[in-house]
Amino acid sequence: MNGAADLAYLVAALLFVAAMKAMASARTARLGVLLIAAGVLVAVLVALLGTAPPALTYVYIMAGLLIGALLGAAAALAVRMAAMPALVAVFNSLGALASALVVLAATWTASPASRTRPFAVAAGITSLIGWAVFTGSLAAFARLQGIVPGGRPILLPRRRTAALGALAGAALLIAVLGVAPAQRWPTVPLALLAAGLGVIGVLPIGGADLPAAIALLNSLAALAAAGAGVAMVNPGLIIAGALVCASGMVLAVTMCRAMNRSPAAILRAAVGGGAAGAGAGAVRPIRRWTVEDAAGVLEGASRVIIVPGYGLAAARAQHAAKELADLLAARGAQVRFAIHPAAGRMPGHMNVLLAEAQVPGELQFDLDAVNADFPDADVAVVIGANDVVNPAARTDAGSPLYGMPILDAARARTVLVVNRSDGGGFAGACNPLFGADNAAMVLGDARDVVARINGLLKRGGRAVTPSAPTAG
Ligand code: TAP
Repeated sequence: MNGAADLAYLVAALLFVAAMKAMASARTARLGVLLIAAGVLVAVLVALLGTAPPALTYVYIMAGLLIGALLGAAAALAVRMAAMPALVAVFNSLGALASALVVLAATWTASPASRTRPFAVAAGITSLIGWAVFTGSLAAFARLQGIVPGGRPILLPRRRTAALGALAGAALLIAVLGVAPAQRWPTVPLALLAAGLGVIGVLPIGGADLPAAIALLNSLAALAAAGAGVAMVNPGLIIAGALVCASGMVLAVTMCRAMNRSPAAILRAAVGGGAAGAGAGAVRPIRRWTVEDAAGVLEGASRVIIVPGYGLAAARAQHAAKELADLLAARGAQVRFAIHPAAGRMPGHMNVLLAEAQVPGELQFDLDAVNADFPDADVAVVIGANDVVNPAARTDAGSPLYGMPILDAARARTVLVVNRSDGGGFAGACNPLFGADNAAMVLGDARDVVARINGLLKRGGRAVTPSAPTAG
């Protein structure tokens, strides 16, 4: 059986690697998901058949599989695309919790003789990572959902002492497990310290750093799974955990680079740092346009760059944005979409939405490819984006966004902002773009506003001269 099991784990590993390759492109991503599911199925079957648990245990396992599959399918079908990042954060926390519970159960049920030093240390490290990622991901979920303020760092008193104290305490308890592996009691205070550390670590991270922090949590959840695999001597878990951990780490580093942040700076914030405040704020009055004004200006534009942000996802305005692009292109305009790597609430969020609306990949440009073209654009249409076009990220050292690369929408001849409000974005930072001389806002739900502009363009629009500033 061992040879057959090893072969099956190898097949599962090959399926995981093929899946990752397929996930690298939106075109083949669905295939990637299916390959992952097939690999997990193979690994679970081998684990079940290999350990040959008693018949009653099979009943519990099957009941658990059924309940989990039903809950997972219901969540995936019911949750709207805009809430998908928060759902991913919950799934991430559950994955980490599963690893932490597996090693906890193994520690408390295994005989003292089988609790060897490697087992005890691997279980201790898995507990530390698993419980911390469980609560940290829940804290990230709460911030993404706005249950606690999302963008601004939450600075608890004495957070540095608490974070360092919890880390030192956890390290001490793992050392105790290493010295006396037959002891079980350290796993309980270890779980409590790690759970506290997860919350303390995620709250002080600033809005601009949260995307990379979430990718880091994702990678650490996989590390916990690999740790559980080491403790339980399960090659399938070790391989899957290591692969996902490595790819998550690559994503975290890529996100850090895109945001001009270093992973070390994020970790420093997690153990007690914290980002700056909201910045100096927009002091200029904003110019408000009607949809007629907006349609009139777009009618005369020959180069248009559309900048989608989280508000486009929240309003489900991707199809309206695609229609706007088609209508302008039909009038002879060159239209492109500018995608910021941190736009929305999860990596690739905008690309997924635009792919769903069938915006061709060749019309989507990333930050580096498009930024130099903004000064030549007649109109930059900002749809539900805020932080990713906030010029304070360049100019205001007091802004929580300071240092983050932004899309240069402000340099277009006219900037048309379609947002629900003129308030701060996810990071809570005031956005001076909204008060710039070349900018105007049409306030409202993005899908509704863009659909009304499209309606006017379809009817031939109106040659309107935009109104003077109307609001302060
Ligand atoms: P945000 O800064 O969040 O701005 C979104 C804007 O859309 C806000 O002005 C918001 O207005 C508006 N809005 C919300 N619902 C709307 C609707 N139905 N219709 C029209 N407008 C609507 O978005 P962004 O520019 O995409 O920047 C993303 C931010 O999220 C960055 O700070 C990034 O660091 C952070 N973040 C990103 C990720 C990833 S991986 N992408 C993960 C976590 C956090 P209100 O102010 O009225 O709500």
